[in-house]
Amino acid sequence: MDQGRRHVRRKHLVKTENLGSSQSDIEKAVSILRRGGLVAIPTETVYGLAADATNEEAVSKIFKAKGRPAHNPLIIHVKNIKMAQQYVQWNEAAEILTMKFWPGPLTIVLPSTKNSQVAKTACANLPSVAVRMPGHPVALEILRQFNRPVAAPSANLSGKISSTSIDHVLKNLNQKIDAIVDAGNSTVGVESTIVAFTPLPTILRTGFITPEAVSNALGAKIANYDNEGPVIAPGQLRSHYAPNAKLRLDAIDWRQGEKKLGFGDVECDINLSKGKSLSEAAQNLFNFLHVLDSFNPRTISVSPIPNEGIGLAINDRLKRASIQE
Ligand code: TXA
Ligand code: MG
Repeated sequence: MDQGRRHVRRKHLVKTENLGSSQSDIEKAVSILRRGGLVAIPTETVYGLAADATNEEAVSKIFKAKGRPAHNPLIIHVKNIKMAQQYVQWNEAAEILTMKFWPGPLTIVLPSTKNSQVAKTACANLPSVAVRMPGHPVALEILRQFNRPVAAPSANLSGKISSTSIDHVLKNLNQKIDAIVDAGNSTVGVESTIVAFTPLPTILRTGFITPEAVSNALGAKIANYDNEGPVIAPGQLRSHYAPNAKLRLDAIDWRQGEKKLGFGDVECDINLSKGKSLSEAAQNLFNFLHVLDSFNPRTISVSPIPNEGIGLAINDRLKRASIQE
């Protein structure tokens, strides 16, 4: 490699500061956001890669650090409902869902307000905005002190396994981001449920909050989302959450040379939940995929997971992780 190229590459590397969740560290994280930097922050679902959502340049750094296609919009994180209402046109269903599930693992997609200050890049130039008020106390404290909306996709390289701990974040983004706020492992473990109104409520991405829970809250049927059908969430990738290894799903036999990710009462290398708890399995999912992938197996085989409740989200992630493009 010639000297010039080496120089150019070094220029993009930064020192990633390792912060905790003390008051002074949160203040540091907020000051980095204020000057347009990137900070990985804990949320209850997965770690997010945060930037000031009103700053075009800061938001474009997120796309660059992740290698994310520009057509894939970001979720805008807010400190409360009032802040969300500055950026999206509220409706009755949004009121019901957010009163019930916020703060928490639910994202809603609504038409943008006319004078929304959210960067166009963050919304991939769409006329809608995805908003979420996270439940994690550290994320909320950062949002309160920053007092501005924060754009935050999952803190991983585009298409790769999401991060539920800072080890995962550093594996992907060390020296590409300004800081990381460590608050231990994410408790939910899969990304938020995304509901859009088109105009019927439609689940764009399954998550910890199940379609039944959304439907019960609204007292209405949820439009059928169909994993086999056309992609309705712009930018939602067919192949996603991918380990380096191939994934073999619904494995009821174990083959030689494979790493075995179990569920229930089975012999395996590592078990998502011996007691068949789907929420425990969701919490472990991305971490165990990271762990098994670090052995560099050709294939990771996965036990069948019941396709109900939170199992819908787990199977959605596993299915996308099994597609290699
Ligand atoms: O739990 C979560 O939602 C995490 C944490 C960090 O909050 N974030 C997350 O972000 O999963 P990301 O970027 O990995 O996924 C965002 C998803 C994408 O599939 C994107 O297409 C969809 O949200 N999305 C964002 N804005 C949208 C919009 N205006 N219309 C439809 N889908 C949208
Ligand atoms: Mg993601």
